[in-house]
Amino acid sequence: MTAIRNIVILTGAGVSAESGIATFRGPGGLWEGHRVEDVCTPQALHRDPELVHRFYDERRAKLGEVEPNAAHRALARLDAEWTGELLLVTQNVDDLHERAGSKRLIHMHGELKSALCARCGDSGAWEESLPPGSVCGNCGAATLRPDIVFFGEMPYRMEEIERAISRADLFVSIGTSGAVYPAAGFVQTARYHGADTLEMNLDPSEGSGWFAESRRGPAGVLVPEWVDGLLAQA
Ligand code: APR
Repeated sequence: MTAIRNIVILTGAGVSAESGIATFRGPGGLWEGHRVEDVCTPQALHRDPELVHRFYDERRAKLGEVEPNAAHRALARLDAEWTGELLLVTQNVDDLHERAGSKRLIHMHGELKSALCARCGDSGAWEESLPPGSVCGNCGAATLRPDIVFFGEMPYRMEEIERAISRADLFVSIGTSGAVYPAAGFVQTARYHGADTLEMNLDPSEGSGWFAESRRGPAGVLVPEWVDGLLAQA
């Protein structure tokens, strides 16, 4: 086995579940009482901007009530101590990875604490509620929207992510159902380039069969154990 130097880690909603943030595909397939297509598509934003903005306002406000958990903290420790290349790619729009201290981080599905101008494409930090009609500081149009990658939109920084995966010796997926592409396909890209692959998830995911190893359990337990082991070997 080649020594591990370059690592790419993908996280999903499961990594934030123990902090009290609901996963997407929860009981009844609803996300906080809504069908995903009612709050997470460009069509929904066009049809009912009040609902969509309010939904993300509530999610953003909730961030003030939650804290990073042991899994976020372990990943931040790995980022700080790992001397090889490391990239943490999260599908999550919460800010718990950065609050735990992770630096080498990409939010591929956007961020609750960011606003995006639908007209000029400028984006920037946004902490408060974001009513429809909020004005873009860059172009002056009243077209700010939540900076969330909706279904049918292109995830952020895909070239960087693909490049990191192609160089990775180890690809690790944590707390994601493997239901949403392109993230669900990263494991196949990693394997194609010869990386070892590890999944940590509470339940079997749709992509479990692609991983060389799958560990079952809560991220708050599995991730610190894995990080301790990896740093002990390094
Ligand atoms: N520890 C580890 N895994 C957990 C935990 C936990 N404590 N709790 C739940 N899980 C697992 C579930 O078993 C499930 O497989 O996390 C996964 C969460 O899956 P989803 O809710 O589908 O979330 P995710 O995979 O991140 O969704 C991907 O879908 O709606 C879109 O854009 C949205 O980024 C999101 C994308």
